Amino acid sequence: MSDTVLRMNHITKRFFSITALDDVSIDLYRGEILALVGENGAGKSTLMKIVSGSYPSTSYDGDIEIEGKSVSFLTTHDAEASGIEMIYQEISLNPELSVAENIFLGRLPRRKISWFIDWKKTFDTSTEALKKVGLDVSPTEQVRFLSTSQQQMLSIAKALFRNPRILVLDEPTSALTETETETLMSLIRGLRDRGISCVYISHKLDEVFNIADRITVLRDGHVISTTLKDKVSPALVVEDMVGRKIETMYPKVQVPIGEEVLRVENLTIPSRIPGKNTVENISFKVNAGEILGLGGLVGAGRSEVVNAVFGSLKKVRGKTFLYGKEVEINSPRDAIQYKMGLLTEDRRVSGFVGTMNIRENISLASFDKIFGKLFIKPLDEKKYVNTQFQQLNIKAPGTETNVLNLSGGNQQKVVLGKWLMTEVRILFLDEPTRGIDVGAKVEVYNIMTELAKSGVAIVMISSELPELLAMCDRFIVLYNRGITGHFSRKGITENKYMEAATGVLQS
Ligand SMILES: Nc1ncnc2c1ncn2[C@@H]1O[C@H](COP(=O)(O)OP(=O)(O)OP(=O)(O)O)[C@@H](O)[C@H]1O
Ligand SMILES: [Mg+2]
Repeated sequence: MSDTVLRMNHITKRFFSITALDDVSIDLYRGEILALVGENGAGKSTLMKIVSGSYPSTSYDGDIEIEGKSVSFLTTHDAEASGIEMIYQEISLNPELSVAENIFLGRLPRRKISWFIDWKKTFDTSTEALKKVGLDVSPTEQVRFLSTSQQQMLSIAKALFRNPRILVLDEPTSALTETETETLMSLIRGLRDRGISCVYISHKLDEVFNIADRITVLRDGHVISTTLKDKVSPALVVEDMVGRKIETMYPKVQVPIGEEVLRVENLTIPSRIPGKNTVENISFKVNAGEILGLGGLVGAGRSEVVNAVFGSLKKVRGKTFLYGKEVEINSPRDAIQYKMGLLTEDRRVSGFVGTMNIRENISLASFDKIFGKLFIKPLDEKKYVNTQFQQLNIKAPGTETNVLNLSGGNQQKVVLGKWLMTEVRILFLDEPTRGIDVGAKVEVYNIMTELAKSGVAIVMISSELPELLAMCDRFIVLYNRGITGHFSRKGITENKYMEAATGVLQS
């Protein structure tokens, strides 16, 4: 009996003029974790959407074998019936349904006699499934009230509930905390020990090296290499990914810190639970040229803080001062007028407009730059958009491509380009490098440095601790509604940061 569970042979997939996959062949062994890595747009998600039946077998060339038998999937149900579950890069739950209904989606247990849905069984089984992934939410909660990380854990619970033979995870940790990531890692290891095979897509190479048995690198729709993890170094993998050597991962340049740009005083933000606040009376400031790291664990209120200052979230109280003068910001429109920019954490919800192309999305926030007195100046718009398009190395046929047709990481770059194009004085970056490849990450860091040099005040949120510590000049850490740590660049360590973020250290 062969030890190969899945074999994909000579897969070629085109989207109109783009060849997303060009004669790709891979094997997946029983009880192994195969990491699939590569730059944004390399073809990772496309390859796995083929395995999961999202793209019907009629839409590509090549064939798939499962345990030596040729299969052809027309729908995701076909793939599920063969024991393949995929956790998608973009969360695909039904937000209007409850947690339990999402877990069971379309297969709620019925009572034998009455054929009514057996709610008790539904909830008991859901509770069990949630416990497996360590997710502490009620099965009756509506999914749209869950945080991004909770939704991600729920997607995982849902997939595991179906007892797959092959589990595909497309950047599962991009929205997870360190603890949740650890939970997931040990879950996946447990699956491997039970003979289940996993394909693990990630831009986080430390995770890949932590968990994978073998690593396959894709570049521009081709397999560049497949190696045993123990036989390769992260530097070599990166080289295969980008096709060149990367000298410095964090090109931080210390720039002179200027005058105070933004000061926030006594910011209090309500939570969903009446009478309870997410943060209370927190105050901080950012100067020109400074990058302030806003730290804390997921759920500590980091995103809420930047959204409240930006006017996209209501606050109980709190004053905002720009260059020492108090201003009233009650909507993102006000904030944009005061030359603030916010790169939101969840690009799907508030990052881009799906019906628009790259150019329209990038120029969305730059009205005064490209709107003449009354008319759009098409030439200027083209020039500015092209600059961003090239600088960020967005992978698409051109700026007229619809954003929905881009790979996840390239969508993120479009949203980033939108804010980089406005002449912002204050930029809030909420997980700016989530889902983007190493090469592009370095580009983002370079752009942050350039902005800092030109006097922009930046507030950065990132769950990737090495990146946060490397790029920021100063840090504040949120925990339990308040600020538990103030650190300088010199005074911070990962340990101190974690102590503050978990409330061990109280300032
Ligand atoms: N629905 C689509 N229509 C047109 N082009 C598409 C579509 N989906 C993907 N592509 C293109 O196919 C190529 C591969 O995309 P894919 O999503 O597989 O990349 P990826 O490796 O998953 O990247 P990322 O790391 O950014 O998620 C890209 O050039 C992308 O723009
Ligand atoms: Mg992808």
